[in-house]
Amino acid sequence: MSDLPGRYSSVQKFLHWTMAVLIVLMVAVGLTMTSIGETPYTGALYELHKSTGIVVLALALIRIAVRRARSAPPLEPMPEWQRKAAYASHYSMYALIVLVPLMGWIATSHCCKPVNLFWTIPVSLPIPDAPTMEASKPLFLIHFTVAFLLAAIVTVHVTAALHHHFVKRDRTLRRMLPGGD
Ligand code: HEM
Ligand code: HEM
Repeated sequence: MSDLPGRYSSVQKFLHWTMAVLIVLMVAVGLTMTSIGETPYTGALYELHKSTGIVVLALALIRIAVRRARSAPPLEPMPEWQRKAAYASHYSMYALIVLVPLMGWIATSHCCKPVNLFWTIPVSLPIPDAPTMEASKPLFLIHFTVAFLLAAIVTVHVTAALHHHFVKRDRTLRRMLPGGD
């Protein structure tokens, strides 16, 4: 049923909402761990941020593969500029959900090997070690900048989705909701 044209498939909906929750948590944990200083929880927050981020990267690649295989339902009727904005924001978010965790992974593999998945499996990228922590700062700056850009686009995206639902009252949000049509 959920694979009928005109709505997203169940897999697309599952990936969309799972990743939305994870990405919001990732931003919150990233900002918290870098601002609380040395506490008994700081190390664990860093570990969770890095590991969950790598899971987000894997989900993003699966999601892009599903999107290419399954495509997306045509947009609801809307003015041409909104159509262009919707496509631009969707493609930018697809690029950023790969780029943000990838840059975090590259920066961390540069400064602080080993990168471990949930305290266990080593997943450091094979790139040279930074001579000092300072040397990795530009890579972390890119990580932060693309994360900020993603958060900004998501804010506009959520506002647009709510506008479609509550003001225009079209199917845009419903076709992304579980069981919606
Ligand atoms: C969707 C995925 C991710 C998001 C949204 C995200 C977001 C953020 C944010 C907002 C910060 C705070 C930056 C600051 O306050 O300076 C941060 C810091 C950090 N992120 Fe990520 N991140 C993601 C994935 C990753 C991954 C996969 C890794 C490593 C494997 C990683 C490693 C780090 C590290 C080590 C810091 C701290 C940098 C510092 O101490 O200055 N992140 N991230
Ligand atoms: C980190 C959070 C989020 C990210 C990265 C994200 C990303 C995306 C992407 C890439 C698409 C395009 C899907 C495709 O065409 O294959 C999409 C569609 C959609 N998103 Fe989000 N989203 C997020 C959060 C949200 C939230 C919180 C809402 C609701 C309030 C929402 C509502 C929608 C809707 C309704 C669509 C379908 C739009 C359409 O095709 O007409 N998203 N999202």
